[in-house]
Amino acid sequence: MANPYGHFDDERREYVITRPDTPWPWLNYLGQDDLFGLCTNTGGGYTFWRDAKLRRLTRYRYNNVPLDSGGRYLYVHDGGTVWNPGWKPVKAALDRYECRVGLGYSRITGERDGLEVSQLVFVPPGHDVELWQVSVRNTSPGRKQPRLFSFVEFAFYEALVDLTNYQRTYSIGEVEVEGAAIYHVTELRERRDHYTVFACTGPVTGFDTSREAFVGVHEGLHEARVPFSGRATGSIAHGWNPIGSHEVSLDLEPGEEQTFAFVLGFVQQGDLPKFEAPQVADKRRGREFVARWSAPGAVDEAFAALNHSWDELLDGFRVECPDPHVTRMANTWNQYQCMATFNLSRSASLFESGIGRGMGFRDSNQDLLGFVHMVPARARQRLLDLAATQLSDGTCFHQYQPLTKKGNADVGGDFYDDHLWLVLSTCAYVKETGDVSVLDEPCGYADVEYPVRSDGATDPRESLLHHLETSIAYTMAKRGPHGLPLIGHADWNDCLNLNCFSTEPNESFQTAGDVAGSQAESVMIAGLFLAAAEELAALYDHLGRPSDAHRVRGQRAEVLAATEAHGWDGEWWLRAYDAAGAPVGTHADDEGRIFVESQGWCALGGAGADGRARQALEAVETHLATPNGIVLQQPAYTRYRLELGEITSYPPGVKENAGIFCHNNTWIHLAWCRLGDGDRALAGYLSVCPSAKEDQIDTYRLEPYVYAQTIAGPDSPTFGEAKNSWLTGTAAWTFVVVSQGILGVQPDHAGLRIDPCIPRSWPGFRVTRRFRGATYEITVTNPDGVSKGVRSIVVDGRAVEGAVDGAVVPAAPAGTVVAVEVVLG
Ligand code: BGC
Ligand code: NOJ
Repeated sequence: MANPYGHFDDERREYVITRPDTPWPWLNYLGQDDLFGLCTNTGGGYTFWRDAKLRRLTRYRYNNVPLDSGGRYLYVHDGGTVWNPGWKPVKAALDRYECRVGLGYSRITGERDGLEVSQLVFVPPGHDVELWQVSVRNTSPGRKQPRLFSFVEFAFYEALVDLTNYQRTYSIGEVEVEGAAIYHVTELRERRDHYTVFACTGPVTGFDTSREAFVGVHEGLHEARVPFSGRATGSIAHGWNPIGSHEVSLDLEPGEEQTFAFVLGFVQQGDLPKFEAPQVADKRRGREFVARWSAPGAVDEAFAALNHSWDELLDGFRVECPDPHVTRMANTWNQYQCMATFNLSRSASLFESGIGRGMGFRDSNQDLLGFVHMVPARARQRLLDLAATQLSDGTCFHQYQPLTKKGNADVGGDFYDDHLWLVLSTCAYVKETGDVSVLDEPCGYADVEYPVRSDGATDPRESLLHHLETSIAYTMAKRGPHGLPLIGHADWNDCLNLNCFSTEPNESFQTAGDVAGSQAESVMIAGLFLAAAEELAALYDHLGRPSDAHRVRGQRAEVLAATEAHGWDGEWWLRAYDAAGAPVGTHADDEGRIFVESQGWCALGGAGADGRARQALEAVETHLATPNGIVLQQPAYTRYRLELGEITSYPPGVKENAGIFCHNNTWIHLAWCRLGDGDRALAGYLSVCPSAKEDQIDTYRLEPYVYAQTIAGPDSPTFGEAKNSWLTGTAAWTFVVVSQGILGVQPDHAGLRIDPCIPRSWPGFRVTRRFRGATYEITVTNPDGVSKGVRSIVVDGRAVEGAVDGAVVPAAPAGTVVAVEVVLG
């Protein structure tokens, strides 16, 4: 069944939404540097600079009624009727509606009564501006004189205060208007050195800056007074709720089109004085900004630059293969989503309010795995920022605020997996780039004061490599009675809280409890450690430091022995030992007998090479796999268990309680690739792939172009329903599964390793991969219908010696194009 709400336009790299009443607002992101916007298919959302909590420029109320109201709205007043090209908020019927979700832009078009209004919104690379290019076309046989009204509601930057502290915020709002530019200057008089400007390059005939004047006090956005009356009031906000609105009056002959722009910018005063006269902001920077974006061609050029930047970004990895979903998602949408997760971690989406979480330590390290090939230099900086929030004993701040880059414990701490992801991300970066200099970069630890000496120099900060050693040592030091790593507050599964014992509904599961002295152990961390230790050892091999490699492999061997001796339940890996030493994820339990995470990580860490790794994956197929993906555990918990924490707080079948948590599905897919079953890897991939959900979209409900964090499992009455799209580790890990697992193009220290694991029915595929500045044109053929196994590799016409099970194609000089022909068999 076709998706009634829209379709992919693969050629133009767009998803075309053709009905505004999607089963949930379908989101896009604008911006990829400092200024970001969330933009739904009806124009809803908000804009912020770097940090959705601390620098929110426009206002949005999450979970509002109606849902998703507030955004970058245009009201059209034409011949007495009022409508919006994006349908909301007025929801007047449209003769035609379309939202083209593109890479870094959305183009929303509505047509009614012979008038077509199109709004292209984007943030161009390298600029703190959100541009709305608006085209109004008269498609009727007669003359038309419509009036347009723009609308944004300004936020007072600190989003939590903005949403809660009305006794203050109703008194602080200040604006200035100069020509077609509306300046939101609240708090400039005190500690801020920035303001927001909203301007228009069209024929502006009026403005409003007071929400009470524009909307009314008792009215809603759908019945806002000004657009329905057809005349702006020229209101100046004094306190209450400042907004920005322009009235634009047009006169269009039949067939005539007029194009102009609205520009929304974040302006920093820099070294300029704040005021040019008492109570009058110095607006020089703002005027320059408005002039720059009003120049003829400026908006078109900026849009061309945005498209060009995405051409370049996506040129780093391209595939043509027999599966249309893999091709479409890997070439475009998966990489696009990886950009969003890299930039925003888990901070701002339709499921993350931008107030709760900043950059997650665990999350951002994993996000880097799917991003590092796109802009390695940004990945490098991220590694250093993350490492600098680690403490000298190895503990990591679980998150940091993007604006300040300072770690905090607001969303919890003592997650004993955090530090290990830094090893994986750093090694991925070094393999991608060959840049070993990053290992010597001074990062320092968040709890150490580095005194400034009399000569101005600071004490040397410990290097990134030092952090990796600290991380390995931390797990070695924190092991429990079975020699397995302690879990601390939780591991990757934030809801497996074995030390929480919370009986108090007023506390957060994520911060409650005390880990001191606890003996609860995690088999998943054991598997993760095995993988991380092997990565570090391989790095030492590459650095020519065999004794360090040997030492780390010795540590790994200790944990491997403990895992194999105490981590096995008989048919699968246990998940953990709780604080009382009882096994979790055992056949002996009535609920939560088998968990997915330890099956995936023990395989990826190389445990159970005696056949148990495969047996555990088979158990996943038998007990956890569904047509919509693999559920997290079975049977679902039906009662709250004090000793297990938040996981048992969810109703059966959702989130961590037997929901399909897509992120961990990817580890199973990758594990199948390691074990050589490409059919299972691809089938698993497709079971959670959003583009493959279009025929069940009314059940699935979320965007078909980005992965979701969860899909409800069969224990839930809403089996198949997705939640938490966009900001999920599923994005990065799926890119790893597809590019490195299935297609088998694996960055390695010595070069590009090629070791595909594909469905037997695939005759072959092609990949173009940018790697350390050279371009590899890789053609893989599969004459014998195998899943895995390389028979030969020919590079630029010369056979690579010993090309069995994935030979490494040596890194070629930057700028060269390398032809690689691979035959499986
Ligand atoms: C969610 C987890 C999430 C955690 C973050 C929990 O409520 O179930 O998925 O990682 O909150 O703090
Ligand atoms: C979402 C969190 O962002 C991530 O860090 C965690 O691993 C998963 N939930 C699983 O609980």
